[in-house]
Amino acid sequence: MKRPLIAASVLSADFARLGEELALLEQSGADLIHLDLMDGHYVPNLSFGMPIIKSIRAHTKLPLDAHLMVSNPSFYIEPLAELGVSWVTFHPDTEPHSHRLLHRIRQLGMKAGVALNPSEDTDQLKWLLPELDYVLLMSVNPGFSGQSFIPGIIDKAIGLKEMIRHSGYEIEIQVDGGVTGDNAQQLIDAGVTILVSASYIFNHPNYAQAIQNLRGNTYV
Ligand code: DX5
Ligand code: ZN
Repeated sequence: MKRPLIAASVLSADFARLGEELALLEQSGADLIHLDLMDGHYVPNLSFGMPIIKSIRAHTKLPLDAHLMVSNPSFYIEPLAELGVSWVTFHPDTEPHSHRLLHRIRQLGMKAGVALNPSEDTDQLKWLLPELDYVLLMSVNPGFSGQSFIPGIIDKAIGLKEMIRHSGYEIEIQVDGGVTGDNAQQLIDAGVTILVSASYIFNHPNYAQAIQNLRGNTYV
């Protein structure tokens, strides 16, 4: 599959028109639907849970990418697999047995990832690398869409790319938060292969144009 993948986060969608929004994202060339699960505990916001994900699954053919911003991620892995979610990330500071949880996600047939907050170092990934399909680098502090991109993440992505290259594993890098047409190319050049975007896509009058802007100029 060509890279970068564009993961449209429905956090900025019009939830009263979710079916139409999903159809529009699909027509506009989005590759993944990014689902931000928040429990009002790990992050100071609530979003949505399984009933909404079930409806989303029924209304799009696109693969679903769940980003768990919750205090007990292990509670949600089986239900997400049952609903047909394909990609799952959790924050390792919410799970004392990250290695085991990654393994379980893969056993259930999903791609497994961890999400690092802006303050967290990639060094902690060293012993998780064999269990990872992707790493999500947060480029805002998690909890809300529409925040400004933290530019230091570009260097973090470059360092992570090097760490992955050195390890020999095939692990993708996803960046999430404040991603726009203005910083997408820099991220792609840094080795990021999956760009998450909510407000940039949903605030754009033309979703297809927004997604095209996010692809940058090296879509291969
Ligand atoms: C933030 C979420 C993001 C959010 C991105 O905690 O993880 O996925 O929806 O929103 P934008 O693209 O508007 O920064
Ligand atoms: Zn997210």
